[in-house]
Amino acid sequence: MVKGLKGTSTISDMNGKVVLLTGSTRGIGRMAAHGIAPTGATMIVVGRSQERVDNLISEMKAIEGCGPVHGEVCDLLVQAEIHALADRIKKQFDRLDVLINNAGAIFTKKITTVDGFERTWALNHNAYFLLTSLLKDQLVATPESRVISTASEAHRPGKMGWHDLQFEKRGNRNGWSSYCQSKLANVLFTKELAKRLEGTSVTANCIHPGFVNTGFSRNNGIIGRFLMTVSWPVQRSPTKGAETIVWLATSDAARQHNGEYLFNCKPGKLAKAAKNMDDATRLWALSEEMTNMSDIW
Ligand SMILES: NC(=O)c1ccc[n+]([C@@H]2O[C@H](COP(=O)([O-])OP(=O)(O)OC[C@H]3O[C@@H](n4cnc5c(N)ncnc54)[C@H](OP(=O)(O)O)[C@@H]3O)[C@@H](O)[C@H]2O)c1
Repeated sequence: MVKGLKGTSTISDMNGKVVLLTGSTRGIGRMAAHGIAPTGATMIVVGRSQERVDNLISEMKAIEGCGPVHGEVCDLLVQAEIHALADRIKKQFDRLDVLINNAGAIFTKKITTVDGFERTWALNHNAYFLLTSLLKDQLVATPESRVISTASEAHRPGKMGWHDLQFEKRGNRNGWSSYCQSKLANVLFTKELAKRLEGTSVTANCIHPGFVNTGFSRNNGIIGRFLMTVSWPVQRSPTKGAETIVWLATSDAARQHNGEYLFNCKPGKLAKAAKNMDDATRLWALSEEMTNMSDIW
C-alpha cells in the first residue's frame, strides 16, 4: 500500500495493472502520471513529442515505487495515428485497467484537421471517443476497468450546435465556444459510455480539474500566454488539478461514482444540458459516424 492523497483513502497497490494516459507530457496529465506512478502500475504515457515523453519517463522512474513505464508518441489530432496507437497497445498489452483521456486544448485560430474536423472538436472529443472505442474490447475484458475523461466547468456555457458542430456558420468567440462545446461533449460522452457499458464491470467518469496553472492556451500566441500568466494568482497547481484523476484511477471508493462528473474527488454540479440523455445518445451516433466506429458499439 502507498500513501493516499490528502483527504482521500489510501491508494491501492496497482502492480500488474495497466494505465494509459494521454496528454501526459505537460500540466495536469504530467502530474497525474507522477501521482499514479507510486502505485507500481504499468504506465503507458502518450505524448506527441518523443523528447517530452522520454523526459517524463525519466522523471517517473525517479519516483519511489514506480512500475514499468512505456512511452508512446501519437498526434491525437489525426485519426490514423490513433488507430496505429491502439494497434500497438493491443499488440503489447493484454489488459487495460485505466484509460485516461486527458489531452486537450483551446485553439483561437480555426484550422481543419486532415480528417476534416475543426481542431478543438477533433482533439477534445473525437480523440476521446475514437481511442475509447478502439480499446473497448481490452477494457471490457479487464475486470473493473475505468475510463476517465478530463472535462471542465467550461461545459456549462457549452451548446451542442447540432447543425454546426464544426463552427462553419456560428461565431466562435476566439475558440471559446468550440472549447465549451467540446467539454460539454466530454460529459455527454461519459454519461452515454456508462450507459452503454452497463452489465460490464467498466466504469466511466469525467472530471473538472479546477483552473490550473499549466501550458493550457499558451499555444495561442502572446494573448493566450498573457492571460494564463496574469491569472496565475487564482490558478491551482497541476498537482492539485490532477488529484481527482489520480483518485479515480487508483481508489476502490471511486467506483461507486460510475457515470458521474467529479470535482475535488466529489460529484460536481452539472449544467442542465450535460444531463440530457437524448443529446448524449445523439452525440454518440454522430461520433460513431465521425470516427467510423459504428461496428464497435
Ligand atoms: N488548465 C486548466 O485550467 C484546465 C481547466 C479545465 C480543464 N482542463 C483540461 O485539462 C486537460 C489537460 O490540459 P492542461 O491544462 O494540462 O494543458 P497543457 O499543459 O497544455 O497539457 C496538454 C497536454 O495535451 C497534449 N496534447 C496537446 N495536443 C495534442 C495532440 N495533438 N496530440 C497529442 N497530445 C496533445 C500536450 O502535449 P505537448 O506536451 O506535446 O504539448 C500536453 O501533454 C485538457 O483536456 C483541458 O481541456 C484544463
